[in-house]
Amino acid sequence: MRGIIALSAASLVGVAKAAITANGQNFTLTGDDVSYLFHVDQEWGDLVSDHFGGPADDFRPPESFFQSGWSDGLAVIRREFPDLGRSDFRLPAIHISHADGNTVTSLMYKSHEVVEGKPKLPGLPATFGNGSDVTTLLVSLYDNVSDVSAVLSYSVFPKYNAIARSFQLTNNGTQNISIERASSFSIDLPNLDLEMIELQGDWAHERNRNVRKVQYGETGFRSTEGYSSHVHNPFFVLQSPTTTETNGEAWGFNLVYTGSFAATAERFSHGFVRVLLGLNPLHASIPVGPGETFTSPEAIAVYSSEGLGGMSRSFHDLYRNHLSRSNNTFATRPVLLNSWEGLLFNYTQDRLEELAKETSDLGISLFVNDDGWFGKAPYARINDTAGLGDWTPNPDRFPNGLAPYVNQVESDSVDNSTQPLRFGIWFEPEMVNPNSTLYKEHPEWVLHAGTHTRTLTRNQLVLNLAMTEVQDYILGFMHNILSTSNVEYIKWDNNRGMHEMPSPATDHAYMLGLYRVIDNLTTSYPGILWEGCASGGGRFDPGILHYFPQSWTSDNTDASARLTIQMGTSLAYPPSSMACHVSAIPNGITHRNISIAYRAHVALMCGSFGFELDPKSLAPDERAAIPGILADWAKVNPLVISGSFYRLALPDYTNWPAAQFISANQSTVAVFAFQQMATVRPAPPPLRMQGLDRSARYRSNAFNGTLGGGTLMNAGINLAWDPMDYQSKLIFLYRQS
Ligand SMILES: *[C@@H]1O[C@H](CO)[C@@H](O)[C@H](O)[C@H]1NC(C)=O
Ligand SMILES: *[C@@H]1O[C@H](CO)[C@@H](O)[C@H](O)[C@H]1NC(C)=O
Ligand SMILES: *[C@@H]1O[C@H](CO)[C@@H](O)[C@H](O)[C@H]1NC(C)=O
Ligand SMILES: *[C@@H]1O[C@H](CO)[C@@H](O)[C@H](O)[C@H]1NC(C)=O
Ligand SMILES: *[C@@H]1O[C@H](CO)[C@@H](O)[C@H](O)[C@H]1NC(C)=O
Ligand SMILES: *[C@@H]1O[C@H](CO)[C@@H](O)[C@H](O)[C@H]1NC(C)=O
Ligand SMILES: *[C@@H]1O[C@H](CO)[C@@H](O)[C@H](O)[C@H]1NC(C)=O
Ligand SMILES: *[C@@H]1O[C@H](CO)[C@@H](O)[C@H](O)[C@H]1NC(C)=O
Ligand SMILES: *[C@@H]1O[C@H](CO)[C@@H](O)[C@H](O)[C@H]1NC(C)=O
Ligand SMILES: *[C@@H]1O[C@H](CO)[C@@H](O)[C@H](O)[C@H]1NC(C)=O
Ligand SMILES: *[C@@H]1O[C@H](CO)[C@@H](O)[C@H](O)[C@H]1NC(C)=O
Ligand SMILES: *[C@@H]1O[C@H](CO)[C@@H](O)[C@H](O)[C@H]1NC(C)=O
Repeated sequence: MRGIIALSAASLVGVAKAAITANGQNFTLTGDDVSYLFHVDQEWGDLVSDHFGGPADDFRPPESFFQSGWSDGLAVIRREFPDLGRSDFRLPAIHISHADGNTVTSLMYKSHEVVEGKPKLPGLPATFGNGSDVTTLLVSLYDNVSDVSAVLSYSVFPKYNAIARSFQLTNNGTQNISIERASSFSIDLPNLDLEMIELQGDWAHERNRNVRKVQYGETGFRSTEGYSSHVHNPFFVLQSPTTTETNGEAWGFNLVYTGSFAATAERFSHGFVRVLLGLNPLHASIPVGPGETFTSPEAIAVYSSEGLGGMSRSFHDLYRNHLSRSNNTFATRPVLLNSWEGLLFNYTQDRLEELAKETSDLGISLFVNDDGWFGKAPYARINDTAGLGDWTPNPDRFPNGLAPYVNQVESDSVDNSTQPLRFGIWFEPEMVNPNSTLYKEHPEWVLHAGTHTRTLTRNQLVLNLAMTEVQDYILGFMHNILSTSNVEYIKWDNNRGMHEMPSPATDHAYMLGLYRVIDNLTTSYPGILWEGCASGGGRFDPGILHYFPQSWTSDNTDASARLTIQMGTSLAYPPSSMACHVSAIPNGITHRNISIAYRAHVALMCGSFGFELDPKSLAPDERAAIPGILADWAKVNPLVISGSFYRLALPDYTNWPAAQFISANQSTVAVFAFQQMATVRPAPPPLRMQGLDRSARYRSNAFNGTLGGGTLMNAGINLAWDPMDYQSKLIFLYRQS
């Protein structure tokens, strides 16, 4: 019997295959270069995984191997949505604690439906698209013992070889249940030799590649910080050990979520690898009352047969087109100057207006007032011991309020531009200092657990955004300020993790509250450029990217360290979503002295480029370099925002890292090349480009005449490096034919 066939635009004109077909109870999800196959097991009613990888159309008999009485039944089946307690001894995707204390669940296939486009996930960030972009398969399951129902959602974005997964779980019974574990993505891969790459780090050391073999037992990581965190990112790759940047198979998995999470690859005795990505069980225990429904966050899986580079470009394109919903996603972002590293907390309105004037005189178009502008004595925010939570301008610093000061800044005209200077400001809305009026009035609004000590980090506590009162308080002061002052950019910071939560489920409830608040604000003020930040890159995740088109990548602005951080970040996230600044030397964290050219080249590889320094600290040659840097920005930023990104050589493996952007129309290429250390030997390797047209010829600022695309990709060009540390070059290629 032929099932429902998706009416995608492609199938209507009879060219490509439908994205989703259901042949009886055999389901085939098809992308340009991916197939995802699973079926309903007739004995168990379970969903059984058949294939996730390159194109394959046929359902075949499953693996056949010696089975023992200890592990058979569900333990030897490759499952799509493993529940707990019935012969499968691996980690489950779903773990429910029932009212009578048992934790057994038996979810069985009931029905399915294919819909065009993609239903919204209530209250959660998610990818989106219409019927010509994405098709969705909804599979309903039911546990007739516990009266729990689940709807699994699979959305295929064929162009990006991407599958988005989430599920909804409804308590159809009469007793409360508690969700102890919820993995948004779960699949059992066959016995393949695999490596896991994750992005590990810490504050000022975010998203460095960590590669390890997927051995027997669990290979994985988790954040228990309440947020996606600096230490691990909710992203990982499984790859064949022979996969490179340009060749081989890679499966990328990413959770569209900002809270705690867990990622695991569990290899069991038979070698099958169970992949799980979802909530962290330590921050779950989510109650679901009779008639209530829990919606899991969404996870994205991308398959690539063209190495890690192909995988990354699929993520970048998917996220720019179908995740980041800001109308600034495809807009070039203004060059900015941020007051933080230059002035810290030490300023007056006059000093800021002077800095704004220096900003516009340098030809920089956006001035950002960082921390230190709010709170009243005795809780004025003049250092980090007081004021967070009291979001009214400090009357000692701004005697006439914010609006006249903002107007003054915006009356400056930017040198060599017809535009006035724009104004941006810093907030940290989710936090409070005990030294604040807010805390004195509402000590019950912070995360706390009974009478346990409310431990401070950076002298602050976390407001409990699970509470509607707290969400409404934040909306209130934000609307107050934004409706009275012409703010065009906001840096939304968040500078500590969660401790002492009233219950493990608070983390997820907090995230729903946070999403409600930033959904409201970004919808109400679509013209504002929103930037996420969390002590640097502590919340660089797809959940934030849904609302804010860019995030601060790291507090580490040392350009050499940044290269590793930015290359790691680009494994999943588009360079257009990274914010990167040139800061003063010696660098505040590493004390390194790196030339302004190298610092600018590293920061220019990001969608949001800027300066974070007091212009007075610039040496004359640095100041003289700024017009040239702004001219490079004007050429490069459109390529970063809407072009394709290629990692040519990684700082993890070579002294001469390099990266490349190709414009959306393929006509212009920008190559950033670096030398970390001066060396006597060996000779630098040739710089070999990627993704060019082999038959086209290219003109360049790096060579005379033209060179063919094949020559540039296969033979490469030889760069002459000065015998000095930290050298850099920006090379343009212009396609001639
Ligand atoms: C579904 O796939 C199974 C193998 O998993 C195969 O035996 C069966 O014939 C298929 N059913 C249909 C309707 O194609
Ligand atoms: C679907 O969205 C794309 C943009 O992603 C747009 O170009 C197209 O017109 C839309 N199609 C329909 C039917 O709305
Ligand atoms: C639940 O469904 C199974 C499989 O269809 C059936 O064998 C069993 O009797 C049902 N149990 C209840 C309590 O309805
Ligand atoms: C379970 O409850 C949901 C929500 O009320 C409802 O849509 C669904 O039909 C119910 N399922 C069953 C099998 O009763
Ligand atoms: C479910 O839990 C809620 C909140 O703890 C409680 O008010 C309610 O009485 C419980 N319901 C049942 C059926 O136990
Ligand atoms: C604060 O800034 C003023 C100039 O605006 C400077 O004179 C003073 O030394 C600074 N104070 C500190 C503690 O840096
Ligand atoms: C920090 O700020 C508070 C007022 O908000 C002030 O009382 C205190 O003296 C300041 N501490 C330092 C070290 O400047
Ligand atoms: C509150 O401010 C006072 C004065 O600056 C400071 O001594 C104290 O440490 C602050 N308390 C907290 C909890 O930050
Ligand atoms: C945002 O929240 C405010 C205050 O609760 C409300 O009045 C407004 O309608 C909301 N706007 C949007 C777009 O959700
Ligand atoms: C975004 O929307 C706002 C308000 O509609 C508008 O002013 C602004 O120009 C838009 N920005 C872009 C990049 O389209
Ligand atoms: C403005 O343009 C002039 C003439 O091209 C140039 O000399 C100057 O450096 C530019 N200023 C800035 C800040 O770019
Ligand atoms: C181009 O040719 C000229 C003349 O031979 C030479 O001086 C120059 O260095 C060459 N430029 C490059 C980038 O090779």
